[in-house]
Amino acid sequence: MINHRSSKRFCLVLLLGLLPLFANASEEKLDESPIPTDRASIQRGAEEVVTTCGGCHGLKYVKYSDLLTLGFAKDKVDGWRGPLPLDAALKPQMSADDATASFGVAPPDLSLMAAAREGGGHYLYSYLTGYHINDKGELTNSVFPVTRMPDVLGLSGITDPKQRAEMEEKAKDVSAFLIWAADPHAQERKHLGYYVLAYVFVMTILLFLWKKQIWHDIDRQPKIE
Ligand code: HEC
Repeated sequence: MINHRSSKRFCLVLLLGLLPLFANASEEKLDESPIPTDRASIQRGAEEVVTTCGGCHGLKYVKYSDLLTLGFAKDKVDGWRGPLPLDAALKPQMSADDATASFGVAPPDLSLMAAAREGGGHYLYSYLTGYHINDKGELTNSVFPVTRMPDVLGLSGITDPKQRAEMEEKAKDVSAFLIWAADPHAQERKHLGYYVLAYVFVMTILLFLWKKQIWHDIDRQPKIE
């Protein structure tokens, strides 16, 4: 027989277990397509972000010199930065005031956006490709229905599947760059990690050999009983 107390506890556990279902009920599911991590994709994404998104958005934690590190030619970076110094942050072409006047809100900085939104790169990809015309004929977005950002990649107006696929690739590259931008040292850290592991491995072998050497000498001495 289940007594009163334990059945109460059972109900509580059941409710807690069901909670995530309710929490997710109102949220649109993100598109979980894999986001590329190779340098060529990140580079293509960077170019798109600087030339298209840069019209409205800045990236205050990414410098023009970081674009050189990404492998862009100096001439190209010089063209993008204009009179700004190489160590200046990526600046939006439109001032925050003008943007607010046009859209009613200042476009947020994109440096840490991939880290700030739940789902990271998948959120960004879903957002950029989520523009569509709803049943009432209005432009909306699957993950951010009332966003005041225009459909910059134009996905809501594309019907040709090939053209759509091209734009989706572009959105993936943009997301790849924004993931990189939010953590530009991830690659370095990974490399450092390998060095540390190699060091630990070599040290382990050396210490093992050293220990063997010491015990070898000790074993050869006459035992004191
Ligand atoms: C014409 C100006 C403009 C351009 C170009 C533009 N955006 Fe935006 N973006 C906005 C505005 C305005 C908002 C704020 C939307 C809001 O809060 O309603 C925004 C918001 C965002 C957000 C935040 C969404 C959220 O969850 O809060 C992301 C991410 C974003 N933009 C990415 C991009 C990317 C990537 C590009 C380039 C492919 C781009 N934007 C191009 C104006 C622009």
